[in-house]
Amino acid sequence: MREADSVSEIREADVSEAEIAVHWREEPRIDPPADFVAQATVRDRRLFATLSGNDFPEGFRSYADLLQWDHPYDQVLDQSNPPFYRWFSGGRLNASVNTIDRHLGSARDRVAYYFVPESESEPITALTYGELASRVNRLAGILRNRFGLAAGDRVTIHLPMVPELPIAMLACARLGVIHSVVFSGFSGKACGTRIVDSGSRLLLTMDGYSRNGQWLDHKIKADEAFEAAASSGVTLDGVAVFERYPGRYRSASPLRPGRDVALTPLLTHGSDHDIAPASLESNHGLFIMYSSGTTGQPKGCLHGIGGYLAWVTATSRYVLDLKPDDVYWCMADIGWITGHSYIVYGPLSIGATSVIYEGVPNFPDAGRPWRIAEKLGVRILHTSPTAIRALRREGADAPSRYHPPLRLLATVGEPIEPETWHWYYSEIGHGKAVVVDTYWQTETGGHLLATLPGIEPMKPGSAGPALPGIEAAIYDETGNRLKPGAKRAGILVIERPWPGLMLGIWNDPERFRATYFEPLRRGAHKDRWLYCTHDAATQSSDGYFRILGRTDDVINVAGHRLGSKEIESAALNVAAVAEAAVIPFPDPVKGHLPLLFVATKPGTASPKGVARSVERAVIEAIGPIARPKAVLVVEDLPKTRSGKIMRRVLRAIATGGDPGDTTTLANPESVEAIRKEVGRSL
Ligand code: PRX
Repeated sequence: MREADSVSEIREADVSEAEIAVHWREEPRIDPPADFVAQATVRDRRLFATLSGNDFPEGFRSYADLLQWDHPYDQVLDQSNPPFYRWFSGGRLNASVNTIDRHLGSARDRVAYYFVPESESEPITALTYGELASRVNRLAGILRNRFGLAAGDRVTIHLPMVPELPIAMLACARLGVIHSVVFSGFSGKACGTRIVDSGSRLLLTMDGYSRNGQWLDHKIKADEAFEAAASSGVTLDGVAVFERYPGRYRSASPLRPGRDVALTPLLTHGSDHDIAPASLESNHGLFIMYSSGTTGQPKGCLHGIGGYLAWVTATSRYVLDLKPDDVYWCMADIGWITGHSYIVYGPLSIGATSVIYEGVPNFPDAGRPWRIAEKLGVRILHTSPTAIRALRREGADAPSRYHPPLRLLATVGEPIEPETWHWYYSEIGHGKAVVVDTYWQTETGGHLLATLPGIEPMKPGSAGPALPGIEAAIYDETGNRLKPGAKRAGILVIERPWPGLMLGIWNDPERFRATYFEPLRRGAHKDRWLYCTHDAATQSSDGYFRILGRTDDVINVAGHRLGSKEIESAALNVAAVAEAAVIPFPDPVKGHLPLLFVATKPGTASPKGVARSVERAVIEAIGPIARPKAVLVVEDLPKTRSGKIMRRVLRAIATGGDPGDTTTLANPESVEAIRKEVGRSL
């Protein structure tokens, strides 16, 4: 990124006081319930005394100690090539050993996962750590022997919420194969793009699955993904297909001989030999997770083994208060980073029991999550504000009928407004469970901001202070560090590396530096490597942060990141569309929905037809999650004299805000026309 761009980025990020004023007011702090405190893992901040000040980075030895190493590390932190930090360098370990094998002594028969099918008439199944080990080894054997995969190769996994998903991830991890999981709701095309970028050799998929009471054919997406990748020059060695019900293949797309491989017979008749885990250097790649950002292509966030695993293990233990004898349910999808860190790697590393639920939370009714939680004895629940809002809206009384033994309620992905927070606390937790709002990002591997549940009071609407070892601060548009309580918004910045920070962007080291570190490398900070979160935030005098939202072109829909550029380029694929601009539009349940404005080429007859085609194109390119709230067809989009589309003006018009002085636009008359269209359509 050039200097000029980075400066303008920070300026645009400056969130006005007006915007903060419409945000909720500061809430009083609430002490965690006494019963929770009495049993909390962290009851004393002294546990973290070594993580601050001069003990950095040596203090993080205690985090590495949470793992089992084949060979000790030489250096806690190699900072010789910033911002490419390397944690626990020289150490060797394997992620599948840390999540499975090390529990096989005393906890072989402990349940690792309960699998809850969406249909309530299907039984819940339990997979012990011993069974998980045998299924992971079998699949690892197939990946190695049948497909010839070895450490450093990449595999794309496009699977729904079924136990085969973590099994596939861990089989890759056992061999040192880097997995790239694509959210099952993403389209075949989106999966294809990610296959190309990661240079994957194999695609792991499934015939289909149930969602919202419907059977979804999933294998057809693999065909699209294969074709999309092939047309971009990447031909997979094969497509390996699981069956949702082994032995009963249920996709309309037949297996293609020579390309598709049915996994059921191989898994059923395969040998049960253990596959020796690869002993890998701490900074070997564990996985790639694609995330949307400022420019067109999603970027592949590459996480390593040692630092990442230490961070998610520590935060599962200290922030989620997860213990080996807990039943824990994170309702996120494993296809997103939350599921990677807090359904797979963190909880398994601790040796806890987790729930994997196939379907949507409110199927067949909004009481379902509470029935599941009661039946399985869930003590720790982790979900998103969107899910809480939806469950509250559809079944505000439902939780009162069930009594799961909940003691901690976590939330992630978007700001939680106090009203929703209070419902979560009072109705779901009956005031007896502590609420933990966790703020972090795909890039950060695990939590950055949260209250330590046993020692720090909760504050509805605030994510909380920085975790031990995280040096967080707010910087204003000129690069000044704001003091806590400054009552001004700025960019949330992390001033020092931490073990969970990703290794870099797959295939694009320069972009890693430019996106996260260049924006603040100027003036007094020109020699520093400050991590820019691209989130606007404020910090109260008590040190608690309140997140206001993304400052780049990312739209947060139901806690999921969608890139504006990806949505706009999908719209531009429709022949009649000349220009497209998308903005986040507030939604009472999902936080925001994409609202698309398109200008058509001269002579286009049917605006309705164009709108429909654009909606279809967006869903086909990304998936139903990106379905726009509306597609507004207009003659012209507001532009600066240099031709830049003014999304801020569109946002103001759509949300009834003040678009500011529009007379300096190249086409000020466009504003009135858009206002009329907004009035007609929204
Ligand atoms: O804007 C912040 C928001 O989600 C973004 C990260 O999205 P993603 O990489 O998909 O990871 C989601 C799960 C960690 C952030 O930049 N965000 C995440 N958690 C919170 C949040 N906003 C407010 N409060 C949170 N607790």
